[in-house]
Amino acid sequence: MLGYRHGFHAGNFADVFKHAVLVCLLQRLRAKDKPFRVIDTHAGAGRYDLWSAPAQKNREFAAGIGRLWDQAGLSPELGDYLEWVRTLNPDGRLRWYPGSPRISRALLRPGDRLALTELHPDEVPRLMAEFGGDRSVTVQHADGYAALESLLPPPERRGLVLLDPAYEFKGEFDRVLAAVRLIHRRWASGIVAIWYPILDRAPSARFQKRLRESGIPAILCAELGLHPYGSPPGLHGCGMIVINPPWKLADTLDRLLPELLALLRIGQHGQTRLEWLAPAP
Ligand SMILES: C[S@@+](CC[C@H](N)C(=O)[O-])C[C@H]1O[C@@H](n2cnc3c(N)ncnc32)[C@H](O)[C@@H]1O
Repeated sequence: MLGYRHGFHAGNFADVFKHAVLVCLLQRLRAKDKPFRVIDTHAGAGRYDLWSAPAQKNREFAAGIGRLWDQAGLSPELGDYLEWVRTLNPDGRLRWYPGSPRISRALLRPGDRLALTELHPDEVPRLMAEFGGDRSVTVQHADGYAALESLLPPPERRGLVLLDPAYEFKGEFDRVLAAVRLIHRRWASGIVAIWYPILDRAPSARFQKRLRESGIPAILCAELGLHPYGSPPGLHGCGMIVINPPWKLADTLDRLLPELLALLRIGQHGQTRLEWLAPAP
């Protein structure tokens, strides 16, 4: 049974990191004239009310988007991301936070498409209401991994698969890896972005080792750590694997990671990492 609800965590530091990288990827896709498709396998609700009881429970957003909300002079990528969040909050008070589907939708051009899958029966109606009547977006109540079978390859042959599971079940990394292999078989040129948590270093390190050994080329790994790894249980940091990263993404992330760390750090702790797990051919 699915227990995880993203509404408790929306807008936290991990969302800021993930959504900033997502904006960078979408900006690169927009740089060419040809249409693209975004497939978001674990879509969540699409938008979150930060004034709601779940979000107010631990107020995780305060240490995430709350840190950026009043900032000026951000890099163009973070500035654009913040602008999308501000667009949802036209009266200037931070209440609504866009999930990955809302962010992707904001960056689609006419002719681009967004395919969303979500499994939780309470999130799906919210997602459907968010995008009802939008002909650029399809929403499926489905297992995102299984749905890839029918979604790949997309007719545009350009675009991105975002894999953003909750990692609440044992074996989630195995499912992600199987999905990566399927995507590589069906759509070798597609960009794949995989978010993962760093609670204890070992599971994500094992996952990266298996990616290195997969034979799949062009795998970039970016991490943001806010707490010393190995300190008491909790979300110490998170990472994003990008397969087939667009040109210059590594340079952009090299600039963005220290900026994100400076904005989000807690005390003196903090570390970033940017590494190719497999070089581009
Ligand atoms: C981390 S949240 C997604 C957040 C969203 N991508 C965002 O950035 O706004 C993970 C979501 O995956 C959903 N989920 C869990 N297992 C799934 C599966 N097998 N297929 C599709 N969705 C799933 C959960 O219900 C949850 O809403």
